[in-house]
Amino acid sequence: MQAYTLTTPSGPEGLSLTELPSPTPGAGEVAIRVRAISLNPVDFKTARGKALYGSLREQAPVVLGWDVSGEVTAVGDGVEDFRVDDAVFGMVNFPGHGQAYAEVVIAPAVHLARKPSNVSHIDAAAATLAALTAWQNLVDLARIEKGQRVLIHAAGGGVGHFAVQLAKERGAYVIGTSSAGKRDFILELGADEHVDYHEHQFEDVLEPVDVVLESLGPEHLERSLQLVKPGGKLLTIAAGLSDHLQERAEWKSVELHHHLVYSDGEQQTAIAERLADGRLRAHVSRTYPFAELPAALRELEKGRTQAKIIVTVP
Ligand SMILES: NC(=O)c1ccc[n+]([C@@H]2O[C@H](COP(=O)([O-])OP(=O)(O)OC[C@H]3O[C@@H](n4cnc5c(N)ncnc54)[C@H](OP(=O)(O)O)[C@@H]3O)[C@@H](O)[C@H]2O)c1
Repeated sequence: MQAYTLTTPSGPEGLSLTELPSPTPGAGEVAIRVRAISLNPVDFKTARGKALYGSLREQAPVVLGWDVSGEVTAVGDGVEDFRVDDAVFGMVNFPGHGQAYAEVVIAPAVHLARKPSNVSHIDAAAATLAALTAWQNLVDLARIEKGQRVLIHAAGGGVGHFAVQLAKERGAYVIGTSSAGKRDFILELGADEHVDYHEHQFEDVLEPVDVVLESLGPEHLERSLQLVKPGGKLLTIAAGLSDHLQERAEWKSVELHHHLVYSDGEQQTAIAERLADGRLRAHVSRTYPFAELPAALRELEKGRTQAKIIVTVP
């Protein structure tokens, strides 16, 4: 099978298309013939020697990628939920070695969900790491309730566009930030209010909120804390929580969480149910063929993506 191996930690340029032996599933695993792969910022960060690179580099060849949709081609011992030819999708082995930039991927069955028949492989692949991140933060950690005010930063991006929809489903009043070009998209997702970060400092123009989902880093997190009501929650998925900020959050009686997403087939199934009945929609702004995966990753690295970029595998 063909797979992209990371030969040097030099970003998308370090990826090279390589012929590798087709892997076979062990106990509890399935082999997936991949149809679509979703890209995430952790991919280019790892490709540049940051994020998960340290833990992967001992496991040569390093094959990046975690998000796939495709068909089961073989099942290992003890797998009862999936059979050959089932269409499945999920985030595989995160934060371990997902090895998803490949034509065939081995996945623990417990990391997968059945792909609904009315959802394409492209849309299913999109609703994996980004959707699970939104789910784990807003549903599990924040336990958002009806009527709460929720601020979603980078609401037009991969995580953000799922977060807006999940917060709306739970009855929240949702505010999203982005540049002006993504305003209409964010309002169409269901957000009640939008702040263009080029035009306004969000903390100057918004009323206090119950929950913030933050993804942009320490300075932004600090500014976000100013807006959270006492008793509220500040959730960050960006690196860089300082002791100072933790003390300030405690002083303000704000719960501060830094969360790293993890693979979970049950949550993936809850996402699949929502994709099937339309409560959740995956938006894909651009697709690239497998042969152009490095170009797709370069595009994502610019940081201006609307919703998701997907790579299709012939
Ligand atoms: N901890 C975890 O488990 C976890 C999980 C997923 C993601 N993450 C991290 O979270 C971050 C976001 O991930 P993602 O997949 O959503 O990335 P993404 O899709 O690449 O996000 C791009 C979006 O960020 C927006 N953006 C950039 N600067 C902004 C600003 N100052 N204010 C508001 N929006 C801004 C852009 O909108 P404009 O073009 O309008 O600026 C663009 O739509 C990444 O750093 C990623 O590594 C962490």
